[in-house]
Amino acid sequence: MRLVVLGATGSIGRQTLEVAKALGIRVVGISVHTRVDAALKIAREFGIEVVAVTGLECVKPTALENVKLVTGERTVEQLVKLTAPDTVVVAVPGIAGLDAVLQAYPYVRRLCLANKESVVVGGRYLKRLLRDAGVEVLPVDSEHSAVLQLLEAARPVKVILTASGGALRDLSLEELENATVSQVLAHPNWQMGAKVTVDSATMVNKGLELFEAMWFFNLAPHQVDAAICRDSFVHAAVVFEDGVVKFHAGFPDMRVPIAYALTKPDRRWKGRVPELVGRSITFEPVPFDRYPAFALAKEILRERDTLKVGYCVADEVAVDAFLKGKIRFGEIYRMIEKVVESVEAADLDSWEEIEEALEATQRISKDVMRRWK
Ligand SMILES: NC(=O)c1ccc[n+]([C@@H]2O[C@H](COP(=O)([O-])OP(=O)(O)OC[C@H]3O[C@@H](n4cnc5c(N)ncnc54)[C@H](OP(=O)(O)O)[C@@H]3O)[C@@H](O)[C@H]2O)c1
Repeated sequence: MRLVVLGATGSIGRQTLEVAKALGIRVVGISVHTRVDAALKIAREFGIEVVAVTGLECVKPTALENVKLVTGERTVEQLVKLTAPDTVVVAVPGIAGLDAVLQAYPYVRRLCLANKESVVVGGRYLKRLLRDAGVEVLPVDSEHSAVLQLLEAARPVKVILTASGGALRDLSLEELENATVSQVLAHPNWQMGAKVTVDSATMVNKGLELFEAMWFFNLAPHQVDAAICRDSFVHAAVVFEDGVVKFHAGFPDMRVPIAYALTKPDRRWKGRVPELVGRSITFEPVPFDRYPAFALAKEILRERDTLKVGYCVADEVAVDAFLKGKIRFGEIYRMIEKVVESVEAADLDSWEEIEEALEATQRISKDVMRRWK
C-alpha cells in the first residue's frame, strides 16, 4: 500500500504514522500546514517522497535529497498527483478538511476521514462526488469506526455514539462559564488537537458526529443519538429491530480505528485486551443545560443544510476566539446560537451553493464576533 497522510504532524497524523510503521505500510507523502521542520524530520524517518506545506506560499529548498517540497496553489492535489497513493488519511482539522478531501479524492481508491467538518459541510454533494468517483470512504473517528464494525445486513433502528463529556464534565455550571483554556485542553481520555479538544468540552464535537453518522450510514435524524460513557470504554451501540443492542468496546486508543480504516477488512493492529470481569458499563443521558451546543446540534439535524454550515463555521470562529482569550468558554455556545439564528435556511446541492453558504456564514460569524459584548 502507498499511503499519504494529510495533517501528519497532528495527533491523528502522528498516530497514523506510528500505525503505518508497525504494519509495514509505505508512507509516500505527507502534508503539514506550517511546521516544515517537523515535516522534514518525519520525511527523513519514513523515507517520504513528497512533503506538501499547505499554509505557506513558499519555503526554503530542502537539503534532504530525494524529498520534494510542494507549496502554493492546490498543494494537496500536487502531492497526490506526484505520489499516486492508494490510500489517503485526512487528519486536517476544521472546515479546511473539505478542501483537502476535494483536492485528494480523484486520485485515490480509499479515503480514511478523521475530519468531520468536511462531511457536515460537503453533505450530499460530497457524497455524490465520492460515489461517482468510486472512492471508498472510511471513518477514522472511533465512534463511527465502531458503528461500521457493528453493522450487519439488517438496517439498524438506532445508532448511539458515546461521549466522554470532555474535560469540564464535573465543573458546576457557574465554573463552566469561565473555564480557562488550560482546563479545557486537559481532556480526560484522549490526547487531541486544540480545536477538537475544545469541541469535546462543548460537545459540539458530538453534535458534528451525529451529522457524520447520518452521512456515513444513511440514517435519519431520529436514528442517531449520544450518551455519556465516562471512560470511553464503549465507543458506540447499534440497536436492531428485534431488540438486540450491539456494543463496540475497548480501551480508548485512536490507533485502533486508524489501523482498521487502513487495513479493513483485515484487523491487523495488536492492541491491549481489556479484562471484562468486574468492569461496569454505564450510559448517562447528555445533560442539555451543561451542553447546550449539543442540544442545538440535535435541533439542526432536522433543519436545512445552511444551518449545519453555520454551526460549523461559527464554532470554528468562536473556538479560535476562545483559544486567543477573546471570549469566555460559555460564550462559544452563545456565539454559535446567534450565528445559526441569523442564517437563511436553504438546502445545498452544488459546490457553488456550498461556497456561497460558507462565505455568507463566515461573514455573519465575523460580524457577530466584531459586535460581541
Ligand atoms: N485527535 C483525535 O484523537 C481525533 C479523534 C477523532 C477525530 N479527530 C479529527 O481529526 C482531525 C485532526 O485532529 P488532530 O487532533 O489530529 O488535529 P491537530 O493535532 O491539531 O493536527 C492538525 C494537523 O493538520 C495540519 N493543519 C492545521 N491547520 C490546517 C489547515 N488550515 N489546513 C491544512 N492543514 C492544517 C497541522 O499542520 P501543522 O503542524 O503544520 O500546523 C497538523 O498536521 C480533526 O478534524 C479532528 O476532529 C481527531
